[in-house]
Amino acid sequence: MIYLDYNATTPVAPEVASAMWPFLEECFGNPSSIHLAGRRTRAAIDESRDRLAGLLGAKSHEIIFTGGGTEADNLAILGLARRRAAGGRGRHIITCATEHHAVLHPFEWLALREGFHITILPVEKCGRLDPSRLSEAITPETTLVSVMTANNETGVRHPSAELAAICRSRGVLFHTDAIQSFGKESLPPLGPSDFDAVSLAAHKFYGPKGTGALWLRGGISIDRTSLGGSHEGDRRAGTENVAGIVGMACAARLALASSVAESERLQLLRERLWSGVSAMFPAAIRNGAPEVTLPNTLNVSFPGLDGESLHISLDLAGLCVSSGSACMVGSIQPSHVLLAMGVPPETAQATVRFSLGKMTTEGEVTAALEAMKPVFERLRSI
Ligand SMILES: Cc1ncc(COP(=O)(O)O)c(C=O)c1O
Repeated sequence: MIYLDYNATTPVAPEVASAMWPFLEECFGNPSSIHLAGRRTRAAIDESRDRLAGLLGAKSHEIIFTGGGTEADNLAILGLARRRAAGGRGRHIITCATEHHAVLHPFEWLALREGFHITILPVEKCGRLDPSRLSEAITPETTLVSVMTANNETGVRHPSAELAAICRSRGVLFHTDAIQSFGKESLPPLGPSDFDAVSLAAHKFYGPKGTGALWLRGGISIDRTSLGGSHEGDRRAGTENVAGIVGMACAARLALASSVAESERLQLLRERLWSGVSAMFPAAIRNGAPEVTLPNTLNVSFPGLDGESLHISLDLAGLCVSSGSACMVGSIQPSHVLLAMGVPPETAQATVRFSLGKMTTEGEVTAALEAMKPVFERLRSI
């Protein structure tokens, strides 16, 4: 098996697993309990929160741990839009056509069920949002903008700093889903002065699944989306995933410590992969300009091939790659991201996302190309 699907998820790093292990075994207390066992796990959460905040340049109370990236996105969008609307700040919110469904679906929910007015901005052919589009879309009723830092399918980065500056100058909150970019960029392109809310998911940077965080800038009020106890500063109810939180803080430290060298290494491997693929299939089209994509991501369309046969054949050849967003597996719809970039539906269906990671080596890239050769030869002849 050759795993080239690190944007879908990553394995837990050994150091992260070791840090988590005590909290699955002997340190099992409920962090809300006041006895010693509870105080131990509470201390571990507090320490992890301080560590993650320190790495981000945030304040500890600005970190809300969640049950993953989807929950962080949902909390940011539903929680901020509802709170602002309740405070009479307007009911217009803006996002972008290539967002993950963890963002698009809460937007649709707010429009269909709660009377919000939403604007979904188109992207340019390269997958980027033109900041002038955002400027034009903001009205006095706009309260929240959510645009991801980098796309999960294509790796295309938006000009986040510019988008954030526009929002700031117009008095609109700016949320970014940084779930794919965190740990893949040389530095986190984040600063408390740039963003009001940032979503993260540990399993995208060699941490555990089911643990995420919303970094919410101090002083911003948010409505809860889960009702129950007063955990996470009364912003997210439910007993904390202690081992997950400890693992997330550990994984974040490792990811940021290695990201410069790692991103350079992965970029070289990715270009090698693209050279091989394009030599093998000259009509292949690369989606997303390499200058604006994450260093590990290569999204390629193979016009003329049948998408379903392509993916089944690559799987049978031992390649773990993605047809787009992992959350859309089983869907026969072409990727909404590629359609928004103007890729025709037939071509969008015959598209492969290769995403490289820590365990990817030059030998593995060579082996992947070798494994792909007979697949393309066979499919082309059909
Ligand atoms: C950009 C982006 N946002 C949100 C999510 C959802 O995160 P999670 O799987 O942790 O719920 C993903 C996961 O694929 C993602 O890539």
